[in-house]
Amino acid sequence: MASTDDKPPQDLLEAATAIRDKAYAPYSGYRVGAAARAKSGRIYVGVNVENAAYPVGTCAEAGALAAMVAGGDVQLAEIAVVAEGGALVTPCGGCRQRIFEFGGPLAGVWTADLHGALRRFTADELLPMAFGPASMAERDGNDGS
Ligand code: THU
Repeated sequence: MASTDDKPPQDLLEAATAIRDKAYAPYSGYRVGAAARAKSGRIYVGVNVENAAYPVGTCAEAGALAAMVAGGDVQLAEIAVVAEGGALVTPCGGCRQRIFEFGGPLAGVWTADLHGALRRFTADELLPMAFGPASMAERDGNDGS
């Protein structure tokens, strides 16, 4: 889906870069910071939090979105993700679904490294034909509440 706002959000990118220093990634050594802007304008940050029991680890995007919900916001405008090394970081499959849940198809997903590489996607580009809240809106025998 076409991007409608492709001007880099410096505040969001700086927030994701700054919080990345707090990532807990002793196992992969791959530190990730994320910053989510709610439609209210508030910014919420998160980092990846790994665990000796590897599958229990959580992504930076999941942390930022959890903070957003705990902060009282459930409408996501855009999210920035910052990491370093290898290809530009893009959200894992589970986080694409999380982004879609709160941002819908047009949510902006910015990915950046520490050296100025930057790309913008929409949630729809990262998760085409997504199953989301609207998929169940008019299901039989349920009023959606
Ligand atoms: N990771 C994130 O936090 N976000 C992404 O978008 C990709 C991967 C984390 C999970 C794990 O702690 C580390 O990066 C390596 O996969």
